[in-house]
Amino acid sequence: EAYDVAVVGATGAVGEAMLEILEARDFPVGRIFALASERSAGKRVRFKGKSISVGNLAEFDFAQVRIALFSAGAKVSEKFVPRAVEAGCVVIDDSAHFRQADDVPLVVPEVNPEAIAGYRTRGIIANPNCATIQMVVALKPIHDFAHVERVNVATYQAVSGSGGAAMRELADQSARLLSGQAIKQPTAYAKQIAFNALPRIDAVLDNGYTGEEMKMVWETHKLFDDRGIRINPTAVHVPVFFGHSEALHIETRDKVSAEKARELLQAAPGVTVVDTADAEGYATAVTDAANQDGVFVSRIREDISCENGLNFWVVADNVRKGAALNSVQIAEKLIEKYI
Ligand code: A2P
Repeated sequence: EAYDVAVVGATGAVGEAMLEILEARDFPVGRIFALASERSAGKRVRFKGKSISVGNLAEFDFAQVRIALFSAGAKVSEKFVPRAVEAGCVVIDDSAHFRQADDVPLVVPEVNPEAIAGYRTRGIIANPNCATIQMVVALKPIHDFAHVERVNVATYQAVSGSGGAAMRELADQSARLLSGQAIKQPTAYAKQIAFNALPRIDAVLDNGYTGEEMKMVWETHKLFDDRGIRINPTAVHVPVFFGHSEALHIETRDKVSAEKARELLQAAPGVTVVDTADAEGYATAVTDAANQDGVFVSRIREDISCENGLNFWVVADNVRKGAALNSVQIAEKLIEKYI
């Protein structure tokens, strides 16, 4: 059986990756519709060797498709996801808009595939935040074995997570600075991102944490269905185009040796352990994770400062596993088991 599919936000980094991944994984696509704003209507994108014309989301009739993959931001999802659902299609939404709704499942297939069944209530499945996804894929095998009680995490996040304008801003600032020119007034970020690190992603909330940081807390609780895991994040943008890095310091209820953690992670779906003593024995966002599907784990070691503590380094392509790939994997499970 083949499914007619719409990709909303098809001209963005995530939407483009969705088209590429649907094709590469041989998802049974019948008709495909690439949608974006009026600005992009008529542009061309490629799918399975053919050039297809981008349609205007505002004029699209969702009754034509069975599955819609949304990645055009929370405002677009707020307005158009309900229309798509009313027209009878199942929506997999990459925005933050529906993630916390009790009647919308939030899914990472390696962590809680069974939650997909909850799509029946509203016809929507939410895809978590990119920084959350790679963290929970790495935490899952450790949590199942020894119960994770606390997570301290610092992120080093790529600018692609902020969209095309942020990527252009990093490129432009880098080029100007390397040729001895002054940079223009930043617009995508409040401060210079080139050759810098920005310790604030999203707005600061009442408790002093940012939206991005609290997403890591709330979404991890929902994904593990466990509000008892204590999570303490600091989310930082770094001048990297593709691939998020995270330094995780976790505490487990039961002791896990570094050796055992390595063994658990090696056996975990979606995880690749790169952790040897030789010069190249660790993974980085750019050299290992970018353009790949996996979540890579390195620097696995026992915490010398506390009991039952473990440290590791986690990298993944934020546009792929952090967004587009995870959405397509949800769609695969959906058609395999439910529709
Ligand atoms: P467009 O190219 O027409 O603006 P990114 O996050 O990489 O910047 O991409 C955002 C994606 O979401 C793009 O495909 C963009 O389309 C799409 N998008 C943004 N705003 C809207 C809107 N109001 N209606 C439809 N698509 C939108």
